[in-house]
Amino acid sequence: MAKLLHVSASPRGEQSESLAVASAFVEVYRESHPGDVVEHWDLWDGALPAFGPVATAAKMAVIRGDEPTGEQVAVWREVVAAVERFTSADRLLFSVPMWNSGIPYVLKQFVDVVSQPGMVFGVDVETGYLPLLAGRGKRAAVVYTSSIWGPEVAPGFGADFQSTYFDNWLRWAGITDVTEIRHHPTLTGDVEDSRQTALATAREVAKTF
Ligand SMILES: Cc1cc2nc3c(=O)[nH]c(=O)nc-3n(C[C@H](O)[C@H](O)[C@H](O)COP(=O)(O)O)c2cc1C
Repeated sequence: MAKLLHVSASPRGEQSESLAVASAFVEVYRESHPGDVVEHWDLWDGALPAFGPVATAAKMAVIRGDEPTGEQVAVWREVVAAVERFTSADRLLFSVPMWNSGIPYVLKQFVDVVSQPGMVFGVDVETGYLPLLAGRGKRAAVVYTSSIWGPEVAPGFGADFQSTYFDNWLRWAGITDVTEIRHHPTLTGDVEDSRQTALATAREVAKTF
């Protein structure tokens, strides 16, 4: 029995394009994988811990090989729980709107909370970062949406630090089986056509995910 975790980064609920595409994915995934567990982590639901002064001190202690101490202990426990919620998933679905050419800050917060030494990454002085999620059969599907930027637009319509950043992070962590589902209608494109193409792609990918 595998677990699909849908991590969503749009706060727009019923209005959300990325959530609509991800919902179509989840619906077909449930039908085609009836024995699997499906979990939704809405990054706006308040469950994601902050990553501030105490958490960063705890992280640096762990990197030095020390134990978190004092007020770090409880904060680090929350961080580890978030990491485990993420790493326990065999299949990951991320729904990611473009915000100011990048990703919504709550998704960057997620990245900062779960990217922890000894759990998601290691470091080797000779070769650099070690992707600790590699070789575990994990797969990710990512729904990227934007409304102004698109792959064909002129530079005046923005740049893509959304998928470039997020895809790099997945691979850095060792998740290299990544499928992209894109919805970038742009200001002059056909929004409905772009939406329907993304929905159809999501349903198709979900069947065998
Ligand atoms: C805060 C914010 C920033 C945005 N920045 C961009 C941007 O830089 N480029 C772009 O093409 N669209 C931008 N958009 C539009 C969204 O990417 C687009 O509407 C997307 O479909 C939103 O996904 P959602 O409907 O799932 O929330 C922005 C929207 C918001 C709310």
